[in-house]
Amino acid sequence: MMLPSPRPLVAAILSFCLGSSLLLAVADAKVRHYDWDISYQKKSPDCFEKLAVTVNGEAPGPTIRATQGDTVVVTVHNKLETENTAIHWHGIRQIDTPWADGVAGVTQCPILPGETFTYRFVVDRAGTYMYHAHYGMQRVAGLNGMIVVTVPEGVREPFTYDEEHTVLLEDWWHKSVYDQATGLSAKPFVFVGEPQSLLINGRGIFNCSKPVPATGTCNTSSPDCGLRSLFTVVPGKTYLLRIGSLTSLSSLSFEIEGHSMTVVEADGHYVRPFVVRNLFIYSGETYSVLVKADQDPMRNYWATSHIVGRNASTTPSGKAIVNYAGNDPQMTPPTTPTTGPPWNNTAIRVEQSRAIVAHPGYVVPAPARADRTLLLLNTQNNIDGHIKWTINGVSLHFPATPYLVSMKHGLTAAYDQRPPLDSYDLMGHDISAPAPTNGTIGSPVYRLAFDSVVDVVLQNSNMLNNMSETHPWHLHGHDFWVLGHGDGKFNPTTDAWRLLNVKDPIMKNTVPLHPDGWTAIRFHANNPGVWLFHCHIEAHVFMGMGVVFEEGVERVRRLPSSIMGCGHSKGLH
Ligand code: C2O
Ligand code: CU
Repeated sequence: MMLPSPRPLVAAILSFCLGSSLLLAVADAKVRHYDWDISYQKKSPDCFEKLAVTVNGEAPGPTIRATQGDTVVVTVHNKLETENTAIHWHGIRQIDTPWADGVAGVTQCPILPGETFTYRFVVDRAGTYMYHAHYGMQRVAGLNGMIVVTVPEGVREPFTYDEEHTVLLEDWWHKSVYDQATGLSAKPFVFVGEPQSLLINGRGIFNCSKPVPATGTCNTSSPDCGLRSLFTVVPGKTYLLRIGSLTSLSSLSFEIEGHSMTVVEADGHYVRPFVVRNLFIYSGETYSVLVKADQDPMRNYWATSHIVGRNASTTPSGKAIVNYAGNDPQMTPPTTPTTGPPWNNTAIRVEQSRAIVAHPGYVVPAPARADRTLLLLNTQNNIDGHIKWTINGVSLHFPATPYLVSMKHGLTAAYDQRPPLDSYDLMGHDISAPAPTNGTIGSPVYRLAFDSVVDVVLQNSNMLNNMSETHPWHLHGHDFWVLGHGDGKFNPTTDAWRLLNVKDPIMKNTVPLHPDGWTAIRFHANNPGVWLFHCHIEAHVFMGMGVVFEEGVERVRRLPSSIMGCGHSKGLH
């Protein structure tokens, strides 16, 4: 394979010199360059002043825009001074560039303060994606943003609209990321708690007249602070909203007062359109929805996000204004913002998950059966006084040497050689009972046969407090078919398989595992590399809620030396 970057330029020059139109298709693909300084800055996104990790001074960072087939080149300068970094391009499969996935400990060594690292990858499919830090819990500190990949010239989407906007949803804590991580690893465990606010495109509302922790202040004169108008609509026009969630903890419901939304895309795949009043969206998911400006144009409307799945009554809703053109963009809607659906109604959320299937014109048929099935039991365990999440009894700990390097170069001392279990007492475990006490911490790898078809059944269970909650699972390097969601315990031998949809399943990269239930997915292990599969709740993956897949690592081209240099890969640098 040729390196993708010089090609368009060379082709453009060639086609200019030779006057050849044959090369035009290639020449159309562009290289999109971004140059980013990553640094801490004081920000007041909800009026409370806090240090945030920013991209060129902004949090969230700029939206990356490209056309399908383009090459994106992001040069990252780590100016955090006392902290490493790594950036993941969430939803981009990194075909042929597994080293650009941006996961410290899996696909690269972290980028040291003062260092520059270049990510170069092709955006091979149109859709809505995101990026965020993938080093420790750094994502919580604000390093994130959206990636919009448009269809190539002449290709039509199965819907029409007049204009588009991005909507990035976050939750926000006043405690520093260090404080949060320290609590999670402490004995006794200290949970991060519910967020102080919910952000929509980087803005939230915190009531500064309430007593604030002694460690901080509200800065109401900050330009970051205050209600924001999300976008302006012209009556009668239709808008495409590309909505992404990069919450640390919260599952959300998003709605625009008085307007229904037609869901048309999920994680870069067209869905059979369905209409909702409120969209449930889990961390790591993206949805595109169509909204028609068909309401009374003499006023503005609320756009709101609400926490569902956890009892977070102390967290105010996220609020922004949808402005009808002609009105003052800051004109507060005359109504009280809605409070959202009841936080504990799991059934309506499962129902919406089940409504998401492939658009009839874009069904990618799933292979009829899998070569291997992994039953992954999600439990919370107390390991030597630390609260950990375990998957089939193992809590994932990232090794000092990135897996991609150690596996490609045979550095077997760098990670656990013992294969993890394909199923962990799944039938024997009572999912409503306390977790088994024999969990361990480790860094094993599931080695998948290259080109095989793999099923994963994620099985939820009760936490140590006897509650079960939502876990959005995200797979790097692939899209998977969502075969189904079920209640209770998955039974591999009886009728569970009959509930699965192989006819028109949606493909996604992130899917919720609902409370007390199971979720089944299928994917094709055909992207050479080493890939993380984890719960997208930042606290949970920090507590070990993930597994690592390897497939065809021997087919990966020579690794760039820029990803090496740490742990056992020192000599390779
Ligand atoms: Cu957006 Cu590994 O995650
Ligand atoms: Cu989780």
